[in-house]
Amino acid sequence: MLNNISFRIRFIFVLLIMLLLNGFAYFSIFKDVYEEELRTQARIVVNNVESFSAWVNSNGGVWVTNDRSYLGHRSLLDATTQEPVEMYSKNPALATREYSEQIAQSNSPATFRMTSENYMNPKNKPDSFESEAIISISSQNADSEPEYFKMVNGKYRYAKPVYHKAGCIRCHGRPEDAPASVINFPNRHDGFGFQTGDLAGVISVELQTESFSTRLVSVLRDSIFEISLVVLSFCLVLWFVWMLILKPINSLAKVADAVSKGQPSELNSNHMNDDSKNEVYKLTIALSRLKNSYEYTADKYSNLKTIFDKAKLRKQERKNKENK
Ligand code: HEC
Repeated sequence: MLNNISFRIRFIFVLLIMLLLNGFAYFSIFKDVYEEELRTQARIVVNNVESFSAWVNSNGGVWVTNDRSYLGHRSLLDATTQEPVEMYSKNPALATREYSEQIAQSNSPATFRMTSENYMNPKNKPDSFESEAIISISSQNADSEPEYFKMVNGKYRYAKPVYHKAGCIRCHGRPEDAPASVINFPNRHDGFGFQTGDLAGVISVELQTESFSTRLVSVLRDSIFEISLVVLSFCLVLWFVWMLILKPINSLAKVADAVSKGQPSELNSNHMNDDSKNEVYKLTIALSRLKNSYEYTADKYSNLKTIFDKAKLRKQERKNKENK
């Protein structure tokens, strides 16, 4: 059934399918780039958090003068004024939480926090995304560098695991081995019972971002020129096949049809070279030769027929005279 449909219609159909496939391919590429870009941003935030935490750790904690929340406390004597100074220490997790709270108060589009299912500070209690991330990551091998991410209410959420090292177990292992500062930590919930290599929790990042569809629309608006180029390339293929193949074949078919019915037809192949590599030219020249020899034969046949008919007529007339 399809074989009876004209090439023009079939070609347009194929072009439309190509356009659709191309559109789908571009859409998927853009979606991948969009997600990869968000993931990269989230990974950068995590890197910064890890570096900050490593910096605090490499300095054995940070000492500050405000007693908002702390693990250690020392009264020191100022060397110049000889006045007593109260100093309070923060370990990496505590300093990181305060750093994350500081960022959350700013208008940064990226915020983060450190959280755990078995948390020490109730402020670090995971939300539903973070619980989901912890369950998913804990089922994966640490060597596979697991990550967990998804869009939640128009925000990109990302989580990367933190594992306990030997040095962490001093505070997160058995409570009886933990320093008094941790046991007496204000509002402490739990956060004990871990072993080296256990999943401590996750660094969770939240990115305020435009939704995929808003981004897509703005990219499409900015890419009018590039889209025009793609459409133009399709038009070029359409023009090429239409003007240089389909149109000449259509007129050749009309000529062949007329010749086969003995009807008059025009076929101009004067400007075409016999040794041309152009397939349509070759076909036109061959059809022109076929047309000429057919018309020559038909002409010859018609002349002979006239002579034969005349002879037949004369013979008939002679017969009629003899009979009279
Ligand atoms: C000196 C004791 C101490 C050490 C050592 C320590 N932590 Fe903690 N950790 C704490 C305290 C206290 C908190 C609560 C901080 C806060 O107020 O947010 C905490 C919080 C955390 C949290 C956030 C969830 C929660 O429990 O509130 C994670 C995750 C964490 N620590 C992982 C680690 C890892 C990994 C290490 C080792 C690299 C480590 N900790 C070493 C004391 C410690």
